[in-house]
Amino acid sequence: MLRRSFLKGAGVVTVVVAGGAVWRACDQGVFSVGEGPAYEPWKDWRKDSNDGALALVRAAILAASPHNTQPWLFKVTNSSIELHIDTSRNVGALDPYLREQHIGLGCALENLMLAAAANGYQATSTLVPGKLAPIPAAPKPQLVARVDLAVGKPDASELYDAIPRRHTNRSAYNPRKPIPPEFAETLRHLASDLPDVRIFLFTAPADRNRLVEISSAANAEIYSDPQIRGDSDRWMRLRWSSVQKFRDGLTIDAFGLPPIATGVSKMMPLSMLRWAASRGAKTGYSDLMLNAPLIGILAVPDRYDQAHCLRAGRVWQRAHLLATARGLASRPCNEAVEIIDHEMALGKPSRAALLGEVMGDAAWQPTFVFYMGYPTLQAQASPRRPIENVLV
Ligand SMILES: Cc1cc2nc3c(=O)[nH]c(=O)nc-3n(C[C@H](O)[C@H](O)[C@H](O)COP(=O)(O)O)c2cc1C
Repeated sequence: MLRRSFLKGAGVVTVVVAGGAVWRACDQGVFSVGEGPAYEPWKDWRKDSNDGALALVRAAILAASPHNTQPWLFKVTNSSIELHIDTSRNVGALDPYLREQHIGLGCALENLMLAAAANGYQATSTLVPGKLAPIPAAPKPQLVARVDLAVGKPDASELYDAIPRRHTNRSAYNPRKPIPPEFAETLRHLASDLPDVRIFLFTAPADRNRLVEISSAANAEIYSDPQIRGDSDRWMRLRWSSVQKFRDGLTIDAFGLPPIATGVSKMMPLSMLRWAASRGAKTGYSDLMLNAPLIGILAVPDRYDQAHCLRAGRVWQRAHLLATARGLASRPCNEAVEIIDHEMALGKPSRAALLGEVMGDAAWQPTFVFYMGYPTLQAQASPRRPIENVLV
């Protein structure tokens, strides 16, 4: 009798626990990766052929941006599109001069220009000149570029077609599969029409080891600053409901974990997830970087020149689209440059020369670091706000 009621009780507990787990899994979007309104912009970006110039904005918002902040606003007419920076969507102390935000705008501009060509526009972009400054106390939108549109011949490219498949891939890369030399050559010359940007590529183990060392030290130092951690955490979207509500920021699905680990992480309480992330971060990041067969640096004459940042962004977007089109994966790893901004903001001595020594050319200032290779896992999309939210 006692045994029977015990079994009955245990059965009820099992059903309740299992039911609770399934409920939590559904609530946290474990079975809905890439689904819901936050991911619609990836699916309907070229659905409406009567969209006119709005079609270009639909492509632009699928671009990369730091912490997926999407700091862009667009003013659209039949013959022009203005691109504005929304300085309120910043990552605070991690990007004290909005350098990375401007690079993100350059990424959006590149998608916009590719979509203009594909949609039969002849597009001319004009960048607003200026020097970057600290984040304004009362942020307001500022014009950074204008694209004039005239009638042209439709010219779709492999880069344009890759727009909905380009996702930052944070999984491990295959260390035994090198980058084909012809791909590296195409990548090296990708910025030939944008003379303010130079691409430095490193495949030799000694160079890559040194870059990993510099990045890893910068990563540890940057994230030991509680202000930076707090400003960065504001863009973490660990709950499925906030992913769908805000449609921006960094999500667990985009961490690059295997599917089961992703599901488990999504169900963990936030405190446990933060603890697990801090335990895994120690060597994980440098191992990921070391396994990639190629590390690249985008450099410009002046890291704090607004137009140079936008052009660097155009080149990054182009490079990532090219990699996507050719079956490669990529991930930015920018701590070695972010620390330069951080030291400048704090008035500390700069270690800007470290990357320069590896590049071997003091005339160019590094502004963006990435690694590339063949992935072990497919990257997941990150959320996007709808275009109605980014039109002014
Ligand atoms: C200027 C800039 C800096 C970035 N830095 C990093 C970085 O250091 N590490 C990283 O994992 N991703 C980095 N990213 C990638 C963004 O987090 C990513 O673009 C964003 O989350 C949107 O995801 P998606 O690229 O998959 O669309 C950076 C992107 C930009 C444009």
